[in-house]
Amino acid sequence: MAANRTSIHGQWSSRWIFILAATGSAVGLGNIWRFPYETAENGGGAFVLVYLVCIALVGLPVLMAETMIGRRGRQSPINSMKSLAEEEQCSRYWQLVGIFGVAAGFLILTFYSVVAGWTLSYVFRALSGVFSHSSVAQIQNMFAALTSDPLRLLAWHTIFMAMTIVVIARGVKGGLEQAVRFLMPVLFALVLVLVCYSLTMPGLSQAIAYLFKPDFSQINPGTILSGLGHAFFTLSLGMGAIMAYGAYLPEHISIPRASLTIAALDTCVALLAGIAIFPIMFSYGLQPHEAGAGLIFKVLPIAFGKMPMGNIIGLLFFVLLMFAAWTSAISLMEPATAWLVERKGLTRVRAAAYTGGLAWVLGIGSLLSLNLWSKVKLFGMTFFGLVEYLSVNIMLPLGGLLIAVFAGWFMSRASTSDELNLTGYGYKAWKLGVRFIAPLGVLLIMLHTLFGIF
Ligand code: PHE
Repeated sequence: MAANRTSIHGQWSSRWIFILAATGSAVGLGNIWRFPYETAENGGGAFVLVYLVCIALVGLPVLMAETMIGRRGRQSPINSMKSLAEEEQCSRYWQLVGIFGVAAGFLILTFYSVVAGWTLSYVFRALSGVFSHSSVAQIQNMFAALTSDPLRLLAWHTIFMAMTIVVIARGVKGGLEQAVRFLMPVLFALVLVLVCYSLTMPGLSQAIAYLFKPDFSQINPGTILSGLGHAFFTLSLGMGAIMAYGAYLPEHISIPRASLTIAALDTCVALLAGIAIFPIMFSYGLQPHEAGAGLIFKVLPIAFGKMPMGNIIGLLFFVLLMFAAWTSAISLMEPATAWLVERKGLTRVRAAAYTGGLAWVLGIGSLLSLNLWSKVKLFGMTFFGLVEYLSVNIMLPLGGLLIAVFAGWFMSRASTSDELNLTGYGYKAWKLGVRFIAPLGVLLIMLHTLFGIF
């Protein structure tokens, strides 16, 4: 292959490690926390349908494009974009895509760590066995008690951010690979155990209809933008995480095949999580739209309290969810860190400490907006809501749009076809995706939702 750069940050040792690491980045709170709660807030099946369409038509081509740019550039997203723009003789300003992505990832990390902190806190609750002797109402109150206590939230947020800094500081080989090798398969297995349990619940058929029989009247611009944003979020796209991981990908690995595997695994985990969670919710008479961002924390412990060996399964589940969040947070922090190392010549340890430290400070805004600042609204949203909306619904799709335009319109056929190792219909389909479907789709949805055009 034409690209002859090597990465100063190291390389993945095999194809599977890349797939595991990228899946580790993709599978996280997005699948198990955010997917169910966005589904519940956006009318159930209608949201699921929009999300699936966005994954197939927009997510997949952009996932391939990002991996490809990363591998060809072999540096942090900003410098990869810069080198490739030079190589293709286009404007140096394309590196702004990388900068924009670093900013988006950084913003996501700020609230991601807060939510991951909830998971940590639930690990200890599960350990105490409290779920098995709590009523449904007590379980709902437990979540409220956690989010209304800023100091507890701060403690968990701090621990989680510190854990992420430690892995990032140790670097690609030492940290990331070890963290993803065993955890992903076990998490997958555990979600399957939960699904099996839910298959026995009385609310099963209601849940399946809720998830898979879309009520088309619920599809509106807001649902579509949320589905699009979530597709980017769950595949870790539009902000350079996958680009940064692609930079460590050995030459001989097929990007299209790896991308398909990653997208399929990620989507399976989300759908299985939905199939696990909603039957429990309906069986206990809880209403989807009332649950809010605490949905899984209010629903799953009910099942853990009742099922055989529920204490152990609950404990394992929250431990693994914490690990899944960890592997995603690592990829959120990596682009900014790699850039500080390349650009400012900092050591990885320092770069990770700066990025994580700053994200920690901003995260405090999000955790306070759950309690002391809950009445403070900016554009009708809390601080947490605003950071989440801006980064996920606006910045990720915009970043993805620019990446698609660069790959589709500015990179030469020779370099893309070579790097993707694709020809014929496969290549044409990808090109159609990055040239037209992804950019136009994102543009139309944004113009319509944000400015009411069309
Ligand atoms: N995809 C991750 C998740 O679903 C979140 C993430 C978004 C990670 C963007 C990296 C970049 O939890």
